[in-house]
Amino acid sequence: MDDVRPLLFFDSGVGGLSVLAPTRALLPRAPLVYVADSAGFPYGTRSEGEIAARVPALLGRLAERYRPRLIVIACNTASTIALAAVRAALDVPIVGTVPAIRPAALLSETRTIGVLGTEATVRQPYVTDLAERFAADCTVIRHGSAALVALAEAELAGSPGDDAAFAAVLAGLLDQPGGEHIDVIVNACTHFPLVTHRLAAAAPRALRFVDGGDGIARRVAVLTARTEWPDRPVEGRAVFTGAADPRLAGALARHGLTAIETL
Ligand code: DGL
Repeated sequence: MDDVRPLLFFDSGVGGLSVLAPTRALLPRAPLVYVADSAGFPYGTRSEGEIAARVPALLGRLAERYRPRLIVIACNTASTIALAAVRAALDVPIVGTVPAIRPAALLSETRTIGVLGTEATVRQPYVTDLAERFAADCTVIRHGSAALVALAEAELAGSPGDDAAFAAVLAGLLDQPGGEHIDVIVNACTHFPLVTHRLAAAAPRALRFVDGGDGIARRVAVLTARTEWPDRPVEGRAVFTGAADPRLAGALARHGLTAIETL
């Protein structure tokens, strides 16, 4: 029997589309619900306490309402702070999104890695732990940017920022002591892969960017390997917890999310 229970992707805004896209490419018939917590956006400037209280409660409500087969927390900020609490609270498989420090360490020739995330993510012990476990022989330089989150939202809404704004974000990493050696940058916020092309174009030199999207897609495929997906793609739904910017409709549709609703 077909299993119409959806995969539920969760982020504060449109960033999680960078995780949804590779999963959709791998599992084109999987029903999708994409939830943007627009009422709580942005997460990156919030405190640990606020995220820890908000995310498990909201995901509990969403799990009841949409009965997902699996939830992807497509947000580094929510995952590095609340992943364990969400897993403990819900009886649904949960896949988190955490900074791709391991793949970055495998790629870096200079052994100097930049981690670009939200302010909340880059200060997490979770990131320190990943760096110690997977990049012990690398210098790991971190920078948190709320501006880049806003630039990514604007890009998808059809109001792209100028190159100087992207260059200023990169300078936050590259101008730190040792930053001149960075050769690989971890996009440690799911909004940032949406604008990697803008960052690369504004960069003063060639840099490589890595994120966890493809790895998460493979993980979701493994966890749902026995699922009988519907024969044909089902209309994807985008759900906003507050106001939805109507200018995002085109970007959502390009990701198969043609039904837009407010929670
Ligand atoms: N996309 C989110 C992340 O991966 C957070 C963006 C925000 O709301 O600040 O961290």
